[in-house]
Amino acid sequence: MQKTFVMIKPDGVKKNIIGEVIKRFEAKGLKVIGLKLLQLSKEKAEELYSIHRERPFFESLVNFVTSGPVVVMVLTGDDVVRIVRETMGATNPKEADPGTIRADFAEEIEENIVHGSDSEESASREIPIFFSQNELC
Ligand code: RTP
Ligand code: MG
Repeated sequence: MQKTFVMIKPDGVKKNIIGEVIKRFEAKGLKVIGLKLLQLSKEKAEELYSIHRERPFFESLVNFVTSGPVVVMVLTGDDVVRIVRETMGATNPKEADPGTIRADFAEEIEENIVHGSDSEESASREIPIFFSQNELC
């Protein structure tokens, strides 16, 4: 079964919508097979977003995702990568479709509540940054 990596960013945790975000994924039939609340280290944040290392927003993004606790999880289901991205909405909440997580709860492009792997390849790289095989149920 396909797997993906999801992270509720510090703004989502601060807004008390951990349950709401997970509920939206579960409502699509996706299963949570790994889940942790933790404080991201600078090193892990840089590793997660390593593809953006040269982008102008990289330092700001790393500062943001290390600014408070995050929830990291692994979800599974048919077509889970695509379904998670669709449920999240576009990166910029102003462009996100109504009813998506980012349209409903985010105001700006950086603090956009949730991360989801953008491909199966990204999921295979991102999951082991946070979960060992024996932590997944
Ligand atoms: P994510 O990786 O967090 O799931 O988001 P995404 O695929 O929709 O967007 P991506 O292009 O991978 O960007 C990663 C995160 O960087 C922040 N960002 N800031 N200031 C900016 O122009 C800007 N652009 C992106 C956002 O937090 C975005 O989710
Ligand atoms: Mg991305």
